[in-house]
Amino acid sequence: KMSTTKSPPKVFVTRYVPPGGVEVLSRHCQVDQWDSQDPIPRDELLKRVQGIEGLYCLLTERIDKEVLDAAGPQLKVVSTMSVGYDHVDVAECRSRNIRVGFTPDVLTNATAELTISLLLATSRRLYEGIKAVREGRWGTWNPVWMCGQGLDGATVGIVGLGRIGFAVAERLRPFGVGKFLYTDSEAKTYASEVGAERADFDTLCRQSDFILGCCALTDENKGLFNKDAYSKMKKTAILINTSRGGLVNQEDLYVALSTNQILAAGLDVTVPEPLPLNSPLMRLDNCIVLPHIGSATEKSRAAMSELTGQNIVAALQGEKMPREVPY
Ligand code: DGY
Repeated sequence: KMSTTKSPPKVFVTRYVPPGGVEVLSRHCQVDQWDSQDPIPRDELLKRVQGIEGLYCLLTERIDKEVLDAAGPQLKVVSTMSVGYDHVDVAECRSRNIRVGFTPDVLTNATAELTISLLLATSRRLYEGIKAVREGRWGTWNPVWMCGQGLDGATVGIVGLGRIGFAVAERLRPFGVGKFLYTDSEAKTYASEVGAERADFDTLCRQSDFILGCCALTDENKGLFNKDAYSKMKKTAILINTSRGGLVNQEDLYVALSTNQILAAGLDVTVPEPLPLNSPLMRLDNCIVLPHIGSATEKSRAAMSELTGQNIVAALQGEKMPREVPY
Protein backbone atom coordinates (compact mmCIF):
# COMPACT_ATOMS: atom_id res chain seq x y z
CA LYS A 1 0.00 0.00 0.00
CA MET A 2 1.39 3.38 -0.95
CA SER A 3 1.97 5.83 1.83
CA THR A 4 0.22 9.16 1.47
CA THR A 5 2.35 10.94 4.03
CA LYS A 6 4.80 13.33 2.43
CA SER A 7 8.27 13.09 3.91
CA PRO A 8 9.20 16.16 5.97
CA PRO A 9 10.92 18.98 4.07
CA LYS A 10 14.70 19.13 4.18
CA VAL A 11 16.33 22.10 5.84
CA PHE A 12 20.04 22.86 6.03
CA VAL A 13 21.53 24.82 8.93
CA THR A 14 24.93 26.31 8.07
CA ARG A 15 26.53 26.39 11.55
CA TYR A 16 26.28 25.25 15.12
CA VAL A 17 23.72 27.74 16.50
CA PRO A 18 21.86 28.20 19.80
CA PRO A 19 19.77 25.00 19.91
CA GLY A 20 16.30 26.61 20.01
CA GLY A 21 16.19 27.17 16.27
CA VAL A 22 17.10 23.59 15.43
CA GLU A 23 14.54 22.30 17.96
CA VAL A 24 11.80 24.33 16.27
CA LEU A 25 12.86 22.98 12.87
CA SER A 26 13.16 19.37 14.03
CA ARG A 27 9.48 19.23 14.94
CA HIS A 28 8.50 19.74 11.29
CA CYS A 29 11.53 19.18 9.11
CA GLN A 30 14.38 16.87 8.36
CA VAL A 31 17.37 18.87 9.56
CA ASP A 32 20.91 18.63 8.28
CA GLN A 33 23.51 20.87 9.90
CA TRP A 34 27.11 22.01 9.55
CA ASP A 35 27.62 21.33 13.24
CA SER A 36 30.77 23.40 13.73
CA GLN A 37 31.66 26.75 15.25
CA ASP A 38 33.63 27.57 12.11
CA PRO A 39 31.89 28.69 8.93
CA ILE A 40 31.13 26.10 6.31
CA PRO A 41 33.58 26.14 3.38
CA ARG A 42 31.94 27.34 0.18
CA ASP A 43 32.31 24.02 -1.68
CA GLU A 44 30.72 22.13 1.22
CA LEU A 45 27.85 24.62 1.29
CA LEU A 46 27.24 24.14 -2.42
CA LYS A 47 27.08 20.37 -1.89
CA ARG A 48 25.01 20.30 1.26
CA VAL A 49 22.22 22.60 0.01
CA GLN A 50 21.29 20.25 -2.83
CA GLY A 51 17.62 19.28 -2.65
CA ILE A 52 16.72 21.37 0.42
CA GLU A 53 13.48 23.33 0.80
CA GLY A 54 14.69 25.62 3.58
CA LEU A 55 18.04 27.25 4.30
CA TYR A 56 19.02 28.55 7.75
CA CYS A 57 22.07 30.75 7.16
CA LEU A 58 24.27 33.29 8.91
CA LEU A 59 25.90 36.52 7.77
CA THR A 60 29.07 34.57 7.06
CA GLU A 61 27.49 32.94 3.98
CA ARG A 62 26.98 34.77 0.73
CA ILE A 63 23.62 33.58 -0.54
CA ASP A 64 23.71 34.29 -4.26
CA LYS A 65 22.66 32.79 -7.59
CA GLU A 66 25.30 30.06 -7.28
CA VAL A 67 23.96 28.80 -3.94
CA LEU A 68 20.35 29.01 -5.10
CA ASP A 69 21.21 27.11 -8.28
CA ALA A 70 23.07 24.49 -6.26
CA ALA A 71 20.05 24.07 -3.97
CA GLY A 72 17.59 23.57 -6.82
CA PRO A 73 14.11 24.80 -7.76
CA GLN A 74 12.39 23.22 -4.73
CA LEU A 75 14.02 25.77 -2.36
CA LYS A 76 11.22 27.80 -0.75
CA VAL A 77 12.79 29.85 1.99
CA VAL A 78 16.09 31.35 3.11
CA SER A 79 16.20 32.74 6.62
CA THR A 80 19.26 34.42 8.05
CA MET A 81 20.00 34.50 11.77
CA SER A 82 20.67 38.24 11.62
CA VAL A 83 18.85 41.50 11.11
CA GLY A 84 21.25 42.46 8.31
CA TYR A 85 20.64 40.72 5.00
CA ASP A 86 23.18 42.42 2.75
CA HIS A 87 24.78 38.96 2.28
CA VAL A 88 21.58 37.60 0.72
CA ASP A 89 20.68 38.38 -2.89
CA VAL A 90 17.08 39.20 -2.05
CA ALA A 91 16.16 40.22 -5.63
CA GLU A 92 17.39 36.88 -6.93
CA CYS A 93 15.37 35.05 -4.24
CA ARG A 94 12.26 37.06 -5.17
CA SER A 95 12.62 36.20 -8.84
CA ARG A 96 12.58 32.52 -7.86
CA ASN A 97 9.71 32.88 -5.38
CA ILE A 98 12.00 32.09 -2.49
CA ARG A 99 10.90 33.87 0.66
CA VAL A 100 13.52 35.57 2.82
CA GLY A 101 13.41 35.79 6.61
CA PHE A 102 15.54 37.78 9.07
CA THR A 103 15.65 38.56 12.80
CA PRO A 104 14.85 42.19 13.61
CA ASP A 105 13.63 43.37 17.05
CA VAL A 106 15.02 40.51 19.15
CA LEU A 107 18.53 41.97 18.93
CA THR A 108 17.67 45.67 19.04
CA ASN A 109 18.28 46.23 22.75
CA ALA A 110 21.47 44.18 22.84
CA THR A 111 22.89 46.03 19.85
CA ALA A 112 21.88 49.43 21.24
CA GLU A 113 23.65 48.54 24.50
CA LEU A 114 26.82 47.57 22.68
CA THR A 115 26.71 50.77 20.61
CA ILE A 116 26.58 52.78 23.82
CA SER A 117 29.33 50.67 25.40
CA LEU A 118 31.57 51.43 22.46
CA LEU A 119 30.65 55.10 22.57
CA LEU A 120 31.47 55.40 26.27
CA ALA A 121 34.61 53.29 25.98
CA THR A 122 35.90 55.47 23.17
CA SER A 123 34.87 58.86 24.50
CA ARG A 124 36.16 58.24 28.02
CA ARG A 125 39.28 56.48 26.72
CA LEU A 126 38.73 53.21 28.60
CA TYR A 127 41.07 51.20 26.40
CA GLU A 128 43.92 53.70 26.85
CA GLY A 129 43.21 53.92 30.58
CA ILE A 130 43.24 50.15 31.14
CA LYS A 131 46.39 49.83 29.08
CA ALA A 132 48.11 52.59 31.06
CA VAL A 133 47.21 50.95 34.37
CA ARG A 134 48.50 47.55 33.29
CA GLU A 135 51.68 48.99 31.82
CA GLY A 136 52.56 50.91 35.00
CA ARG A 137 51.95 54.30 33.42
CA TRP A 138 49.40 55.35 36.06
CA GLY A 139 51.25 58.04 37.97
CA THR A 140 49.70 60.29 40.54
CA TRP A 141 46.22 61.75 40.01
CA ASN A 142 46.70 64.26 37.25
CA PRO A 143 44.21 67.02 36.40
CA VAL A 144 45.02 67.01 32.68
CA TRP A 145 45.56 63.29 32.06
CA MET A 146 43.17 60.96 30.14
CA CYS A 147 40.52 63.58 29.58
CA GLY A 148 37.90 62.60 27.09
CA GLN A 149 34.62 63.89 25.72
CA GLY A 150 31.37 63.62 27.64
CA LEU A 151 27.81 63.24 26.37
CA ASP A 152 26.44 66.09 28.45
CA GLY A 153 25.19 68.76 26.04
CA ALA A 154 26.66 66.91 23.06
CA THR A 155 25.20 66.66 19.57
CA VAL A 156 24.73 63.04 18.51
CA GLY A 157 24.26 62.29 14.82
CA ILE A 158 22.57 58.99 14.06
CA VAL A 159 22.91 57.64 10.55
CA GLY A 160 20.07 55.13 10.44
CA LEU A 161 17.37 56.14 12.91
CA GLY A 162 15.61 52.81 12.64
CA ARG A 163 14.91 50.23 15.33
CA ILE A 164 18.47 50.17 16.65
CA GLY A 165 19.25 53.87 16.15
CA PHE A 166 16.09 54.76 18.00
CA ALA A 167 16.88 52.39 20.87
CA VAL A 168 20.32 54.00 21.12
CA ALA A 169 18.80 57.51 21.21
CA GLU A 170 16.28 56.55 23.89
CA ARG A 171 19.07 55.19 26.06
CA LEU A 172 21.40 58.15 25.45
CA ARG A 173 18.82 60.77 26.34
CA PRO A 174 19.31 60.44 30.11
CA PHE A 175 23.02 61.19 29.64
CA GLY A 176 22.02 64.79 28.91
CA VAL A 177 22.56 64.82 25.15
CA GLY A 178 21.88 68.32 23.80
CA LYS A 179 20.66 67.42 20.35
CA PHE A 180 20.06 64.40 18.12
CA LEU A 181 20.46 64.70 14.36
CA TYR A 182 19.38 62.12 11.78
CA THR A 183 19.36 61.88 8.01
CA ASP A 184 16.66 59.37 7.02
CA SER A 185 13.52 60.57 5.37
CA GLU A 186 11.46 57.71 6.78
CA ALA A 187 12.29 58.08 10.46
CA LYS A 188 9.77 60.80 11.39
CA THR A 189 7.94 58.81 14.06
CA TYR A 190 11.12 57.71 15.78
CA ALA A 191 12.53 61.23 15.42
CA SER A 192 9.60 62.94 17.07
CA GLU A 193 9.70 60.47 19.96
CA VAL A 194 13.29 61.37 20.81
CA GLY A 195 13.15 64.97 19.58
CA ALA A 196 15.69 64.40 16.80
CA GLU A 197 16.21 67.00 14.05
CA ARG A 198 16.56 66.07 10.41
CA ALA A 199 19.75 67.22 8.71
CA ASP A 200 21.59 66.41 5.51
CA PHE A 201 24.64 64.19 5.83
CA ASP A 202 27.07 67.13 5.50
CA THR A 203 25.42 69.06 8.31
CA LEU A 204 25.33 65.95 10.47
CA CYS A 205 29.08 65.47 9.93
CA ARG A 206 29.87 69.12 10.66
CA GLN A 207 27.74 69.51 13.78
CA SER A 208 27.95 66.17 15.57
CA ASP A 209 30.21 65.36 18.49
CA PHE A 210 29.32 61.70 18.12
CA ILE A 211 28.43 60.08 14.82
CA LEU A 212 26.79 56.68 14.97
CA GLY A 213 26.41 54.25 12.08
CA CYS A 214 23.23 52.30 12.81
CA CYS A 215 21.88 51.72 9.29
CA ALA A 216 21.71 48.71 7.01
CA LEU A 217 24.45 48.48 4.38
CA THR A 218 23.24 49.21 0.84
CA ASP A 219 24.88 49.90 -2.52
CA GLU A 220 24.18 53.60 -1.90
CA ASN A 221 25.88 53.97 1.47
CA LYS A 222 28.94 51.77 0.88
CA GLY A 223 32.00 53.80 1.98
CA LEU A 224 29.78 56.65 3.21
CA PHE A 225 32.31 57.48 5.91
CA ASN A 226 35.24 58.46 3.72
CA LYS A 227 37.90 61.15 3.47
CA ASP A 228 35.35 63.71 2.41
CA ALA A 229 33.11 62.96 5.41
CA TYR A 230 36.01 62.93 7.91
CA SER A 231 37.25 66.28 6.58
CA LYS A 232 33.93 67.84 7.55
CA MET A 233 33.85 66.40 11.06
CA LYS A 234 34.98 68.22 14.19
CA LYS A 235 38.50 67.54 15.46
CA THR A 236 36.81 66.24 18.60
CA ALA A 237 34.34 64.00 16.75
CA ILE A 238 33.97 60.33 17.59
CA LEU A 239 32.72 57.82 15.04
CA ILE A 240 30.99 54.63 16.15
CA ASN A 241 29.96 51.89 13.73
CA THR A 242 27.89 48.90 14.84
CA SER A 243 26.13 48.19 11.55
CA ARG A 244 28.32 46.85 8.75
CA GLY A 245 32.00 47.45 8.11
CA GLY A 246 31.30 48.42 4.51
CA LEU A 247 29.92 51.76 5.66
CA VAL A 248 33.41 52.92 6.61
CA ASN A 249 36.36 53.53 4.31
CA GLN A 250 39.03 52.13 6.64
CA GLU A 251 42.07 53.54 4.80
CA ASP A 252 40.58 57.02 5.02
CA LEU A 253 39.65 56.41 8.65
CA TYR A 254 43.22 55.48 9.47
CA VAL A 255 44.44 58.75 7.97
CA ALA A 256 41.77 60.76 9.80
CA LEU A 257 42.61 59.13 13.15
CA SER A 258 46.37 59.22 12.83
CA THR A 259 46.47 62.87 11.73
CA ASN A 260 44.00 63.98 14.44
CA GLN A 261 41.34 65.04 11.95
CA ILE A 262 38.87 63.32 14.25
CA LEU A 263 39.37 62.21 17.84
CA ALA A 264 38.49 58.53 17.97
CA ALA A 265 36.55 55.65 16.47
CA GLY A 266 34.79 52.60 17.85
CA LEU A 267 34.07 49.79 15.42
CA ASP A 268 32.17 46.59 16.10
CA VAL A 269 32.25 45.71 12.41
CA THR A 270 35.05 45.83 9.84
CA VAL A 271 36.06 44.69 6.38
CA PRO A 272 37.15 41.97 6.41
CA GLU A 273 36.06 40.17 9.55
CA PRO A 274 38.11 39.24 11.42
CA LEU A 275 40.20 42.38 10.93
CA PRO A 276 43.76 41.19 10.16
CA LEU A 277 46.33 41.83 12.88
CA ASN A 278 48.39 43.87 10.43
CA SER A 279 45.58 46.35 9.82
CA PRO A 280 46.96 49.83 10.57
CA LEU A 281 43.82 50.49 12.67
CA MET A 282 45.18 47.97 15.19
CA ARG A 283 48.11 50.26 15.93
CA LEU A 284 45.97 53.19 17.04
CA ASP A 285 45.10 53.84 20.67
CA ASN A 286 42.18 56.03 19.60
CA CYS A 287 40.51 53.22 17.69
CA ILE A 288 38.68 50.48 19.55
CA VAL A 289 37.79 47.44 17.49
CA LEU A 290 35.36 44.85 18.82
CA PRO A 291 34.75 41.43 17.20
CA HIS A 292 31.18 41.97 15.86
CA ILE A 293 29.41 41.30 19.15
CA GLY A 294 26.50 43.78 18.93
CA SER A 295 23.82 41.12 19.33
CA ALA A 296 25.94 38.86 21.53
CA THR A 297 23.83 38.39 24.63
CA GLU A 298 22.67 34.86 25.52
CA LYS A 299 19.07 36.02 25.41
CA SER A 300 19.23 37.76 22.10
CA ARG A 301 21.19 35.03 20.30
CA ALA A 302 18.73 32.41 21.58
CA ALA A 303 15.80 34.49 20.34
CA MET A 304 17.48 35.03 16.96
CA SER A 305 17.95 31.31 16.53
CA GLU A 306 14.36 30.47 17.44
CA LEU A 307 12.97 33.18 15.19
CA THR A 308 15.04 31.87 12.29
CA GLY A 309 13.58 28.39 12.83
CA GLN A 310 10.05 29.78 13.10
CA ASN A 311 10.49 31.81 9.90
CA ILE A 312 11.45 28.68 7.99
CA VAL A 313 8.67 26.49 9.41
CA ALA A 314 6.04 29.15 8.64
CA ALA A 315 7.25 29.59 5.06
CA LEU A 316 7.35 25.83 4.46
CA GLN A 317 3.79 25.56 5.76
CA GLY A 318 2.72 28.40 3.45
CA GLU A 319 1.92 30.68 6.37
CA LYS A 320 2.81 34.24 7.27
CA MET A 321 6.43 34.32 8.42
CA PRO A 322 6.98 35.98 11.81
CA ARG A 323 9.66 38.22 10.25
CA GLU A 324 9.90 38.32 6.47
CA VAL A 325 12.21 40.76 4.72
CA PRO A 326 9.86 43.55 3.56
CA TYR A 327 9.02 43.90 -0.14
C1 DGY B 1 22.98 41.20 12.45
O1 DGY B 1 22.05 40.63 13.02
O2 DGY B 1 22.88 41.65 11.31
C2 DGY B 1 24.25 41.38 13.21
O3 DGY B 1 25.28 41.83 12.44
C3 DGY B 1 24.63 40.12 13.94
O4 DGY B 1 23.70 39.95 14.93
